[in-house]
Amino acid sequence: MGRLQGKTAFVSGGARGLGAEMARVLHSEGANVMVTDILEDEGHELVSAHENMRFMMHDVMHENQWAAAISATGDAFGGLDILVNNAGIAHNATTIEETTLEQWRKVVGIDLDAVFLGCKHGVGLMKATGGSIINISSIYGIVGSAGQAPYHAAKGGVRLLTKALAVELAQLGYGIRVNSIHPGFVGTDMVRDGLRHAVETGLMPGENEAMEMLTMQTPIGRLGVPRDIANAVLFLASEESAWMTGAELVVDGGFTAQ
Ligand SMILES: NC(=O)c1ccc[n+]([C@@H]2O[C@H](COP(=O)([O-])OP(=O)(O)OC[C@H]3O[C@@H](n4cnc5c(N)ncnc54)[C@H](O)[C@@H]3O)[C@@H](O)[C@H]2O)c1
Repeated sequence: MGRLQGKTAFVSGGARGLGAEMARVLHSEGANVMVTDILEDEGHELVSAHENMRFMMHDVMHENQWAAAISATGDAFGGLDILVNNAGIAHNATTIEETTLEQWRKVVGIDLDAVFLGCKHGVGLMKATGGSIINISSIYGIVGSAGQAPYHAAKGGVRLLTKALAVELAQLGYGIRVNSIHPGFVGTDMVRDGLRHAVETGLMPGENEAMEMLTMQTPIGRLGVPRDIANAVLFLASEESAWMTGAELVVDGGFTAQ
């Protein structure tokens, strides 16, 4: 029997990249999975290959769409046990002086405000049975770097939002654990697009060189693959992490250990 047999999971931004792999891994352990995203074709393609996996168009910026997506999950599968707040965007490097308020609000809106909305609406359905909320932050929610202030601020916010909710929901007796995951560099579209932009603007010599540089800075000697992060999600979703709440799980090949 799968480790998540009979459970229901929700993965935001699950049509591609890390989220798609999370959906596949949770499903492979027996969970029903609701995948949501703004990428319609990719979302439908992913779920078409899996029984008990559904896709719904859902822009995480909008509270009414959160309410609808969570309610659709309850209608489809009868409840919610695992919520993965994964949807996110990067910030193409700018100095603080160049960064516009619009850019700041977009990154913080998707990478932080939407996690608040997901938790708020997810808890409403999840508290009937208890469950596990997993917020995807980043190593950039723990350490800083140049040119990425909005992303760091948002991901750092996710880290502490997670801890605050872990304490609050435990005190309320809801049986809901809340933990964050802090991935290091994984070669998804998000990272490749960011590197391409850095090359175009002259910050990096070339995409391959940039990938090599990131690899060299990673003690384990390779970049992450989506499965590395999805396995951490599986652990936090399962009963094997039953005594973990408010924790920050760093999965980065040792990048932030040095
Ligand atoms: N790839 C990495 O190296 C890395 C490292 C640390 C953290 N992360 C985080 O992991 C998460 C997944 O990133 P990824 O690398 O798979 O990137 P990705 O760009 O491949 O996937 C992100 C997904 O989020 C969706 N999304 C974006 N805006 C949305 C919105 N408004 N509403 C709904 N969905 C939306 C996208 O359509 C996409 O499917 C993000 O939160 C990211 O910040 C990634």
